Amino acid sequence: MAATVHSFIKLLLDFYYYLLNKVFVFPSLEKLWVIDLRTFRPYSISINHNAVQATEFRKISPLGITASPQDHIAKGLTLLDPGFRNTAVGESRITHIDGNRGLLQYRQYSISYLVTHHDYEDVVHLLVWGHLPTLDEKLNFRSRVAKQMVPDQSIIRVIQAFSPDAPAYLIVAAGLTAWAASDPDSVPVYRGYSIYEKDSNAVDEGIYRSLAAFATVVAIMACHQQGKPFTPHADPTLSTIENMLIMMGRPHDRQAASALNKLWILFADHEITNSTAAFLNATSCLSDPISACVASVASGNGPLHGGAIDLAYKRFKQMRNKEGVRKHMADVKAKKTRLMGVGHRVYRTIDPRIPHLHSIMADLETNVSQNPLLDVVLEIDRTVAEDPYFTSRKLSINADLYSSFAYAALGFDPRIFTPLAMTARCAGALAHWRESMNQPPCLWRPRQVFTGEVAS
Ligand code: ACO
Repeated sequence: MAATVHSFIKLLLDFYYYLLNKVFVFPSLEKLWVIDLRTFRPYSISINHNAVQATEFRKISPLGITASPQDHIAKGLTLLDPGFRNTAVGESRITHIDGNRGLLQYRQYSISYLVTHHDYEDVVHLLVWGHLPTLDEKLNFRSRVAKQMVPDQSIIRVIQAFSPDAPAYLIVAAGLTAWAASDPDSVPVYRGYSIYEKDSNAVDEGIYRSLAAFATVVAIMACHQQGKPFTPHADPTLSTIENMLIMMGRPHDRQAASALNKLWILFADHEITNSTAAFLNATSCLSDPISACVASVASGNGPLHGGAIDLAYKRFKQMRNKEGVRKHMADVKAKKTRLMGVGHRVYRTIDPRIPHLHSIMADLETNVSQNPLLDVVLEIDRTVAEDPYFTSRKLSINADLYSSFAYAALGFDPRIFTPLAMTARCAGALAHWRESMNQPPCLWRPRQVFTGEVAS
């Protein structure tokens, strides 16, 4: 009893001390006030851009005020956030998403404006360098990427060593690894020092090289899957998409070039998604960007992320028709499986890319309407909009549902859908990388809450 009274008085004194020293000095409304009920000690934490610094929570400690400051920090509060549901890993000026209003902007331009008035190259320039390019900047960008689109023979041999039926994203990861290995001077540790940190020229070279490597590796793989010979093509007057299509054996395919330009604008960036985070996790250690692309491919091919494009299309085939959709829905609602192409971590109303996908599909109307799986997709769309299982959880269709359909309408093999989507997203990851390279290096190293036993 005496101990309880003593500790209560001590807490009151702590609180009084705190009020005197902190609260009444420079009060600010941009603060979060936290009272730790274990100690009744209040803390003030600054709010900036509607965010608080997680490290500020380290000062919240169960120890008495008289304990040493080091002990306070050692016992400071940790934020537990499995899956980063509410944790920002940095500040960015690139992409703004408002999930409730279904808004997506790159550097203050809405994707509707960009899809209508610009092409993918413009958008990559916008994302990476912060403004839409002048004609000279665009031509320069185009030729700098094309110059790098010439693969070393070792890369082609690595890709061709795989079975054409091997998972395409793994082939892409291997091809990119071979690309980085064929240019070891771009790898910091191999070269013996940091290359990219605060060196915007080296970063820009890394960006051209990575964009070229991604598109070329995907083209080599597409040829390998189809049993076609691969011929490099790096015309500096053509866009990356045009050079890639030519290397895939589709020269003069204006329809595919136009649709890919639109599709890839929609997928060029999406804040710090899972695969972009994997990329930035690697570059936070100052790794080279192509190695980081490999990390993003490893992460992006999972069924809950980029792999959903591939898997969604596989599921459409398994469902075959409306009746198949109804049966599959029963499994989904019984939680035996997830409905691919549905749900999104950020969008809770509408995925703003969907109307544009509809318009791309309208442009490809002939091929789309001939696809027997159209009924399946429309039935999924209808069910998700109406069924309480989905509406009560604010689950709506995501862009992957229709993007797989658009790729199919363009005549791409389903095995390559995910690698194509990853090629588009490479631009966004590189933009975030460039942004991060202008800031002091900060190793990404999450913490854990240890719940096991500690040996004595
Ligand atoms: N099918 C059925 N139920 C779902 C689905 C789905 N696709 N997505 C979420 N749910 C349910 C969950 O079971 C959960 O139900 P509960 O509240 O009864 O437990 C609830 O909705 C919330 O689910 P979470 O897992 O918390 O949602 P989260 O935001 O973590 O997941 C994700 C987002 C991973 C995209 C999820 O919706 C999903 O798995 N979708 C299918 C895969 C897909 O299409 N991925 C592509 C996303 S877009 C992209 O990456 C390019």
